Amino acid sequence: MVVSQTGGTEIRHERTGLVFRPGLEGVPATQSSICDIDGLQGRLSYRGYSLDDLAVHSSFLETTYLLIWGELPTPQQFRDFEHEVQMHRRVSFRVRDMMKCFPANGHPMDALQSSAASLGLFYSRRAIDDPQYIYDAVVRLIAKIPTMVAAFQLIRKGQDPIQPRDDLAYSANFLYMLTEQEPDPLASRIFDRCLILHAEHSLNASTFSARVTASTLTDPYAVVASAVGTLAGPLHGGANEDVLAMLEEIGTPEQADSYLESAVASKRKVMGFGHREYKVKDPRAVILQSLAEELFARFGHDELYDVAHALETAAAIRLGPKGIYPNVDFYSGLVYRKLGIPRDLFTPVFAISRVAGWLAHWREQLGANRIFRPSQIYTGTSMRHWVPADERVNAAGA
Ligand code: SDX
Repeated sequence: MVVSQTGGTEIRHERTGLVFRPGLEGVPATQSSICDIDGLQGRLSYRGYSLDDLAVHSSFLETTYLLIWGELPTPQQFRDFEHEVQMHRRVSFRVRDMMKCFPANGHPMDALQSSAASLGLFYSRRAIDDPQYIYDAVVRLIAKIPTMVAAFQLIRKGQDPIQPRDDLAYSANFLYMLTEQEPDPLASRIFDRCLILHAEHSLNASTFSARVTASTLTDPYAVVASAVGTLAGPLHGGANEDVLAMLEEIGTPEQADSYLESAVASKRKVMGFGHREYKVKDPRAVILQSLAEELFARFGHDELYDVAHALETAAAIRLGPKGIYPNVDFYSGLVYRKLGIPRDLFTPVFAISRVAGWLAHWREQLGANRIFRPSQIYTGTSMRHWVPADERVNAAGA
């Protein structure tokens, strides 16, 4: 044996003394000044501003500026940034034509990953330490990702994408491009607040992926495409879609406890619950729950909310003692559903927002770059002699 269990989740390699922690739990992989999480108190801040304040006072575009450049913009800086983003919302007809070749029943996250990567074909890879190149890439990605998400939605329905409307602000314009209707101002504001809540969350899996990709000095479109692919998984951003399927499967509030009992007994993960960093309810889930209630008060109740509420109550007893509470993905789907967003677009909507965090980390990574190249603990066979083909028996995997 080359490895030994040291207790907890650590594994120590006897020859080298290296210690392996599955999932890199508790292992700092970078330094960052972007986002701070207090997982015991349930607090979250971006660049020193509490999420509660940002969700009330800021807009997604202003928060994006803060995340990427470290300070809130002056009114003039914000007007310039907003204008630049507005000017770059359109995507090339070549990207739209490419999307028309995607299978209509393909997942929109796959469509988004391919479309985001394709932007690298259109914009030359200049010196990535050029501030103008960085600014332009930020503007393009923040501007075009929502357009691409909305475009695929219409294309898969057999329609042509509609053009962005210059008189609509960022979030209202996205809802307009998606639904082809000018959204209610309250709906737009709530959606914008959802984008603020999802914009950044320290070294989560997709951001780690973004930073690893960034550390090779590749282009920002590849950075975002790799992060989109990582976000898609059901243990990460993809959970928001699965939460609704789970709530539908449970069906009624009365069924919540028995569903939970069987999930716990069979060691099945309850979607939208648990977090590596939080041992209390995710502060974003607290705000999203209140946004859901605000929407229901205005546009009508959603019976699945009652199921969610019953599940949260039951889980507080069965999972709470292990520090497992609702995370960001638990209530977001109920908000998006009320806003008329199709279920398989929940994770792309998460990506629209998280691109701000990924780009902040891209920029930070470039500021003090060293390529990520961790080590591993080899668990294979020791050195052995070559076996000629006619002497091999019972080859593995045959
Ligand atoms: C996001 O990291 C981020 O910041 C991510 C995110 C962001 O903004 O970027 O916040 C977004 O990804 C939210 C998480 C979405 N995923 C889900 O909702 C899927 C369900 N949750 C889990 O699978 C899980 O809680 C994770 C993936 C979120 C965290 O996984 P960990 O830290 O690796 O924990 P684990 O799987 O090793 O579980 C530890 C224990 C186990 O019990 P024991 O074997 O020790 O007895 O907790 C239990 C697990 O069984 N557990 C759960 C559970 N989550 C953990 N049990 C039931 N239901 C769950 N959801």
